[in-house]
Order: sequence, then structure tokens, then C-alpha cells
Amino acid sequence: MGQKVLVIGSGAREHAIAHALQRGGSVEEVTVAPGNPGMELDGIRTSHIDESNHAALIDFMKDNGYDWAFVGPEVPLIDGLVDDFAAAGLKAFGPNKAAAQIEGSKDFAKQLMERHGIPTAKYATFDTLEPAVAYVREHGAPIVVKADGLAAGKGVTVAMDVETAVAALDDIFIDHRFGNAGAKVVIEDFLEGQEFSLMSFVNGTEFWPMPISQDHKRAYDDDKGPNTGGMGAYSPVPQIPQTVVDEAIETIVRPTVQAMADEGTPFTGILYAGLIATAEGPKVIEFNARFGDPETEVVLPKLTSDLAAGISAILDGETPEFTWDDDRVTLGVVLASDGYPTNVVKGAKIPTIPVDEDSHVYYAGVAKDENGELVASSGRVLFVETSAPTIKDAQDKVYAVIDALPTEGMFYRHDIGFKALK
Ligand code: AMP
Ligand code: GLY
Repeated sequence: MGQKVLVIGSGAREHAIAHALQRGGSVEEVTVAPGNPGMELDGIRTSHIDESNHAALIDFMKDNGYDWAFVGPEVPLIDGLVDDFAAAGLKAFGPNKAAAQIEGSKDFAKQLMERHGIPTAKYATFDTLEPAVAYVREHGAPIVVKADGLAAGKGVTVAMDVETAVAALDDIFIDHRFGNAGAKVVIEDFLEGQEFSLMSFVNGTEFWPMPISQDHKRAYDDDKGPNTGGMGAYSPVPQIPQTVVDEAIETIVRPTVQAMADEGTPFTGILYAGLIATAEGPKVIEFNARFGDPETEVVLPKLTSDLAAGISAILDGETPEFTWDDDRVTLGVVLASDGYPTNVVKGAKIPTIPVDEDSHVYYAGVAKDENGELVASSGRVLFVETSAPTIKDAQDKVYAVIDALPTEGMFYRHDIGFKALK
């Protein structure tokens, strides 16, 4: 009998996780809660339980004989879903509430890095406006202003001049744009270099790194427009040399996992390090306590081992095995609703997307209309992923598919992967 696994979340990331679990062989049944109707096209079950309803998720696991759960998004992790599952005698893969602070509070992450000499931008934390403004004026630009708590990737202002930084502080402290997330602000030095994402499976004391990837956070081509949750990704990132990845593993991932264990908040789950390759070596921009979105949709297709077997080994205190197809180049593009990320216009019709066996469509913000047809129901709608021998080939292939689609009411970037092709 195979395992039964509940994936919690509803985005393209959770679709990619569920799809990878299905591919592995040791899983008999995958349900995603709440999931979305696009996932059903892959034979993935969904259950209309909201990710914030811990009691209903626990009941689902017990009533249906599920073996363990995978928690996709940050909010339930930070809200202590893994703790509640443990209290109910259930297994869930992800950090508990204490360890999820590494994402939930930028101040927590910064202090941890400072105590353990983990390379990151210099910073200061403020909880009132005047000293924050004084710091910015004294320090000068470029400078980066970050709301302390969760703000769905939108709480960060990279200010190229002092007035922009001051306006961001006004937004946080006077207009309370991020509510509680902005009760504290972290101001940090601007780091220059290429960004990359290094995710690892972690069991509390040891870790297994995945291939690196690169996200595209700005809404429009050539990195113009507002920051989003991410508009596309690819893997590997050839302009980041392996020596830099190795350095990041030794100077960032290893000491962070060690520090969390030593300080009594051991981290189990996926540790996402958002890094910048600076002239002085890799430095941390942010930690996330979960898989990245859209990075997961280009990284998990490279996994050649059984994802469920690896995770259940970790949950059982055994040594997992994760193997990757390192020759495979993967690249994918987000289709987003018009107006994303600020004024999302929902309701675009979702076309049927013809893909070959080396490609996949991962659905995010989709719902069924009264005729049972898929329509866009939020900002990021779906992700088209493909693999090919080179980044250029993968780019050509994915855009040949997307450019031919009727995409009225949606938009996408036309240059995913461009930094690898310069
Ligand atoms: P975050 O939400 O922390 O990932 O930040 C969003 C984006 O802001 C990052 O992907 C970077 O492009 C940029 N960013 C954040 N911190 C810095 C920094 N210290 N220096 C330069 N850019 C940054
Ligand atoms: N792609 C960035 C994130 O998941 O936070």
C-alpha cells in the first residue's frame, strides 16, 4: 500500500509538489487542500478545506487515513500548523512555529545571522518613524527598506534615493500600509550582484541542497515595474559559478541550520535562501521557511528520486535520498491577470495549453465558472514549464507555446532567463 499525502496550499507551487509526489511511485493518493481545479487535470484530488482551518485539516487526515502532510505556504507554518498537527499525533513536513520565524520576522533572521557571522547586508531595526528617517538621511542611498513581517513579497523598497526611502517609511509608519507587518522596519545596505535561490531539504541538523534557480521578481520585461511574488524562473543559473554555490552552502546554509539547532529552534522542512552573489561572495537577502514560488516549478521537475520517500525518511528520522537530473535545463513563465500585482482584474478565460511530455502546466489562481470552464481568480494564474538542452532552447520552446495562446486579460514577461543569455 502506498502512502497517502495531504499537501496544504493552493498555488502553482503546491501543484508542482503534488505532481512530484505522484511521480515518485511510493504515493497512492495525493490531496491538496484547498488546491485549485487546475490540479484536477493531473488527477490530483482537492478538498475545500482552507489552510487556516487547522482543526478541519487534522480531521481530514484522521478520517481518511492520511500518513503525513506537506505544508506549502508560509502563513500556516508561521501560524503553527505543524505544532498543531504534532499535538494531534500527526506528521507534517515543515518547520514549527518557532523555526518558521526565520521567514516570519526579518528582524529574527537578521539577528540570527549577526550572532553567527552569516553574510548578509548590514542593517538596523526601528519601530518608530523619526529615528528610521534620521538613519536613512545619515546613511544615504541606495538603501533598502523592509517591513518586518510577512507582506507577500511586497514589503520591500529598494530605494535609489533618500526621498524614496523616506516615502517608504511614511507608508509603513504613517499610512500603516502593511498593518502589523510594518510595526517594525528593517533598513539595510543595498547589495549589488545577481540573485539566486538555493533551497534545501532540512531534518533539524542536516541538509540536502537542491539545484539553484533564479526568480524574476519585477512585473515587466527587463526587470521593470513593481515587485511581485515572481514572474518566471529557470534552473540552473550558469552565470553563478559552482564555487559560489559551494561557498553559499558552507558559509550560509550549513551555519544557519546549525545555528537554528544550537539555539533551540531546529528547522525541519524546506529552507529557502534568497542570495545575492556580491563581489565579496554570496550574501543573504532573505530566508523563507518553505519552497519558493515559482522556483519550485522549475526545480522539482529535475528530481529523479522519489520525493515522498525522501520526505517520509526525514519524518521517520532516517537518511533520505534525493537525486537530480543536472543536465536538464528547466524554465517557466507565469501568466498573470491584468493589473497584477496592484489592481488585479479577475475572470480571464484559461485556454487549453498544448504541451509535450517534457513540459507541464502548473495552475495557481484558477476557479471554475458557472459552465465549469477555468477562469482566472487571482493575480498569478498559471505557470508553463518546459525543459530542453539549453536555456535558449527552453526559452524558445516555452514562448512558442505561450505566444500562440489566446491570453486576453492576462500578461506575462517575454524575457525569462535573459540574465543567463547576456
Ligand atoms: P525580499 O522580499 O526580501 O526578497 O526582497 C525583494 C527584492 O528586493 C529582492 O528580490 C531583491 O531584488 C531586492 N532586495 C532585497 N534586499 C536587497 C538588498 N539588501 N540589496 C539589494 N536588493 C535587495
Ligand atoms: N519566489 C520567491 C518566493 O517564493 O518568496
